[in-house]
Amino acid sequence: MTPLRDELTYRALATHRSSLDGFAITRALADDPGRVPKMTRSFEDLDVDLSKSLATPETLRLLIALAEARGLPRAVEAMFAGEKINVTEKRAVLHVALRNQSARAIVVDGRDVMPEVRAVLAKIGAFVDRVHSGEWKGQSGEAITDIVNIGIGGSDLGPLMACEALEPYWHVRSDGSRITPRFVSNVDGAHLGRMLKHLRPETTLFVVASKTFTTEETLSNARSARGWLVKKLGEAAVAKHFVAVSTNAKEVGAFGIDTANMFEFWDWVGGRYSLWSAIGLSIALAVGKKHFTELLEGGHAMDEHFRTTKLEDNVPVLMGLLGVWYSHFWNAQTFAVLPYDQSLHRFTAWLQQGDMESNGKGVTLDGSRVDYDTGPIIWGEPGTNGQHAFYQLLHQGTRMVPIDFIAPTQTHYPLEAYAGIDHHTILLANVVAQGEALARGKSRDEVVAELKKAGMSEDDIAQLAPHKVFTGNRPSNTLLFDKLTPRALGRLLALYEHRIFVQGVIFGINSFDQWGVELGKQLAKTVLGELKGGAAQAHDPSTKALLTNVMTRRTKS
Ligand code: F6P
Repeated sequence: MTPLRDELTYRALATHRSSLDGFAITRALADDPGRVPKMTRSFEDLDVDLSKSLATPETLRLLIALAEARGLPRAVEAMFAGEKINVTEKRAVLHVALRNQSARAIVVDGRDVMPEVRAVLAKIGAFVDRVHSGEWKGQSGEAITDIVNIGIGGSDLGPLMACEALEPYWHVRSDGSRITPRFVSNVDGAHLGRMLKHLRPETTLFVVASKTFTTEETLSNARSARGWLVKKLGEAAVAKHFVAVSTNAKEVGAFGIDTANMFEFWDWVGGRYSLWSAIGLSIALAVGKKHFTELLEGGHAMDEHFRTTKLEDNVPVLMGLLGVWYSHFWNAQTFAVLPYDQSLHRFTAWLQQGDMESNGKGVTLDGSRVDYDTGPIIWGEPGTNGQHAFYQLLHQGTRMVPIDFIAPTQTHYPLEAYAGIDHHTILLANVVAQGEALARGKSRDEVVAELKKAGMSEDDIAQLAPHKVFTGNRPSNTLLFDKLTPRALGRLLALYEHRIFVQGVIFGINSFDQWGVELGKQLAKTVLGELKGGAAQAHDPSTKALLTNVMTRRTKS
């Protein structure tokens, strides 16, 4: 494949970028009354407004030409066809099969995977019904009230984020009681230890979620949780209070969970793309199988949009390409994802793993080192909290940070009845105003006029004015949709998953392995051996000193 920077289309973009020196978002909007419709794309009730970007319709045209030159349409086809596009692990990449609602077969190694996918979904559905109805009882005969998902990375972030996002849909039993989903991931005992304080073993179901079932954090937490349960209810209780989600039946059995209580998935599901698989069991237990199915349907709808829509109207394609545009041609190092919805408070954390573990790579598919930036640093917090924390830098700092604002226009939580305050309108006013402020800025003249009007002296104005200037011209995309339903969430998640895919194809990297997490894990094993009294190993002087320091402190009473 042609190196990225040698692509003619890439060079054309570089030339085009030079022609945009001095480009002003607000001027572009004023000069072309058609800019907003030209740069907005919609899918179902989702509108994606790209008009406040440092780009023109010509930019989009050139970016699409780049996508074509990099073989994006063919790459999309290959993923959906089950080709082994994860070349270093020789695996297909088929999270799209998990939410495939069509009759289309998806074949891996000559076998249609859809019957197995449907069988596991049916098993999940039946189990969820038993737990909800109270037919599945704990050891003492009581119904389950708390689900504790024990997992980490993709076996935690996706289910946690989705359960939080879908709180209005949590199942309510006929007696009015609810099942609460909870999540333990960190190996720090504080995580499980604090959680256990809120739980009664008699009514708790642990879902041990691990693709490999070898992850140290998850197994440590699961073993301690198992010990806690057994101490209180005896060994026989494990079968009623522990289920597993994994690709590794052997390890599940070895851990002591009956494989009849295991929900399976497959090596062609990447951990960070796995919430749609049995890893979503805790989501299904929280919201019920109808809503879980709606989540899958939303994901599938976006898959179909991504697979079949021409590039110029394809939402994940355009969003992915604009991201490349900012990092490669405007030197943006980071990308802020700012949901104006408290229920999406873990969305950016989920995306952080999805994007940074996928596209944080340094070599291309053929193993050559890249000479350009790959995936950006993803960060963000929900609005309006972020406004009172880091927006100062977004507005006046020296770094350009492209932003995605995400906002449902209707709320599940109207509070007007209490004090007449329409919280959601206030929230929406803020998201709209932030995009406007970032693009528009405030000139020195405007600042001076404002301060004069406020009666400030000439001297004070001269001193203060520079600090109150906003340079503006800071780009943002705004994604609006009606309401955060399971379908809308599924659509949104699949959109960002495909955005990652698009960028991976442009960079020419493998977005589906994660070798970069291995070295730290490997060295931690050696260090752990030493901390437990094993023989000293070779380390650099800094690490050695740190280790000695830790050991000395640990012997203090
Ligand atoms: O951190 C690396 C990683 O392999 C992630 O990709 C994965 O989501 C996480 O660990 C958990 O892995 P598992 O589901 O196998 O426990």
